[in-house]
Amino acid sequence: MCGIIGYVGPGKASQILTDGLKMLEYRGYDSVGIAVLKDGKLEVRKDKGMVEEVSSALAFTTMGGNVGVGHSRWATHGVVCKENAHPHTDCTKNIALVHNGVVENFSKLKSELSAAGHKFSSDTDSEVVVHLVEEYSKTQPPLKAFMRAIGRLEGSYAIALMSAADSEERLFLARRNSPLVIGVGKGEMLCASDIPAMLKYTKTFVALEEGDMAILSRHGYKVYSSDGSEVSRKQITVDWGVEMAQKGGYPHFMLKEINDQKHFISESLASDVTGARKLMDKYDRIDIIAAGTSYHAGLMLACLLQQQGRNAQAFIASDYPFITSPKEKTLVIGISQSGETADVLQALRHAPKSPKLAITNTVGSSITRLVDHTVFLNSGPEVGVAATKTFTSQLAIVYKLIYGKEKLGGLPALIEKMLASENHVKAIAQKLASKENVFFIARGRNVPIAYEASLKFKEITYIHSEAYPGGELKHGTLSLITEGVPVIALAPKDDTLQKLFGNIREAKARGGLIVSVTDDDEVRKESAMSIPIPSGLDPILYPFALIVPLQLLAYHVSVLKGINPDRPRNLAKSVTVE
Ligand code: F6R
Repeated sequence: MCGIIGYVGPGKASQILTDGLKMLEYRGYDSVGIAVLKDGKLEVRKDKGMVEEVSSALAFTTMGGNVGVGHSRWATHGVVCKENAHPHTDCTKNIALVHNGVVENFSKLKSELSAAGHKFSSDTDSEVVVHLVEEYSKTQPPLKAFMRAIGRLEGSYAIALMSAADSEERLFLARRNSPLVIGVGKGEMLCASDIPAMLKYTKTFVALEEGDMAILSRHGYKVYSSDGSEVSRKQITVDWGVEMAQKGGYPHFMLKEINDQKHFISESLASDVTGARKLMDKYDRIDIIAAGTSYHAGLMLACLLQQQGRNAQAFIASDYPFITSPKEKTLVIGISQSGETADVLQALRHAPKSPKLAITNTVGSSITRLVDHTVFLNSGPEVGVAATKTFTSQLAIVYKLIYGKEKLGGLPALIEKMLASENHVKAIAQKLASKENVFFIARGRNVPIAYEASLKFKEITYIHSEAYPGGELKHGTLSLITEGVPVIALAPKDDTLQKLFGNIREAKARGGLIVSVTDDDEVRKESAMSIPIPSGLDPILYPFALIVPLQLLAYHVSVLKGINPDRPRNLAKSVTVE
């Protein structure tokens, strides 16, 4: 969840780290800090706050030096304050460390180190690691001391560390259950939690594997497995451009990414699903595991497979281990845009004997190493915390798996048409921005879209929102529908409309403010406000027509309320803790 970056080379480390942290801020944004080495001396600047404000208040880029580490934090241990911000240093202030993850045995290690005389300046679990390295460095050379310290850790970690006492300018890296990627430049080396932070410098990367450790110097890198032996890891190249991870003139990444959907949908539809389809045909039972938005794509896949008479079910990843015991004959499909969501990775590990398939956006991500086959979304980097373009890409892959590509040719044009409703959606957003509760209703295959629209709405507007299959309203929720409470009905003219119309009338009769997304004139007449769907659409494409304006609705309500939709409170992209 936290963002890590490291640099060693001829460039100005503080500038490269600060730029990188701006790109990584979506991983965590409660505090930020960098450490650089200059003339054998370590300098650390850090504080709570967003990258932009802290880096300018503390003048990060005035720091000299060609090697350094940086961190943007999403608090797990200890409150948000300067002391708990990374980098952390040892007692001698010679070693600096940044860490993402949770050191589960930190209290035992802390007692041991305290007894040996170490003084701690934060409440974090991370700080124990730098003191452990300090302790072992008293008797061992830097790499050995680092490896020995890493060997003591339980839990998850992505670590970058450097030492003023080291005879060379080097970074020491380690990863387990938290992402860390090496960027291979020309005469310079980088590391970061995510590829976008390094795109300006290189397109060649090495994703460290579980338990790996590594050393970076400006001349190259060496990777070691957990037993300390040197290993070789595959280099990958990506064709993402730097501009893909920039706002490109839009006020927010989220709005850019919503608009990007018209392009990336074609890239996703071009993704090769033949291997995945073969796997799906081979097994009788299919378990789909995912979290958040990806779970909604998973629900859609399960729904479409069930409509074909297949035995398929979608599970919330974090609950999967508690409610299932997958057999060898079950195909387990993990859906995760980041490929690093701890809940999803853990759920996949819960099915050791089952064949596995991943649907992800991230080349070289952890999920790809846990499965037999991967389908890539090809959506380019997604920076906004709220998933948008990767959701429609996931839907596109799901649809291609079920229907083949032939029926989906009209998707880019459909998305473009739905994007054109933005001004109209904005006017509706003005009517909703002052509400305290919002309900979304739909039926059948439109229900996963209602869940997704509701999640998007609540996470970036802070307005309480729930979604239901319309038929469920009368079984309890109707008691909450009073005068003026918005009920957003996903009401396309498909086989669900007649029944959903009944639910719309029920809600309206209780004073509900009906907002519909529809191509039906009667529904439109019953609605206080309505977003039009183009007429004559192939019914299977309705889910795409529904989600795009509802993403825009969430975005505009968020902006009207003065919230930054790219950085909703308490959340982070890529949730690497369970
Ligand atoms: C919501 C959102 C999250 C993610 C969830 C899973 O807008 O982005 O709900 O969908 O954390 O993330 P991935 O797909 O990376 O596994």
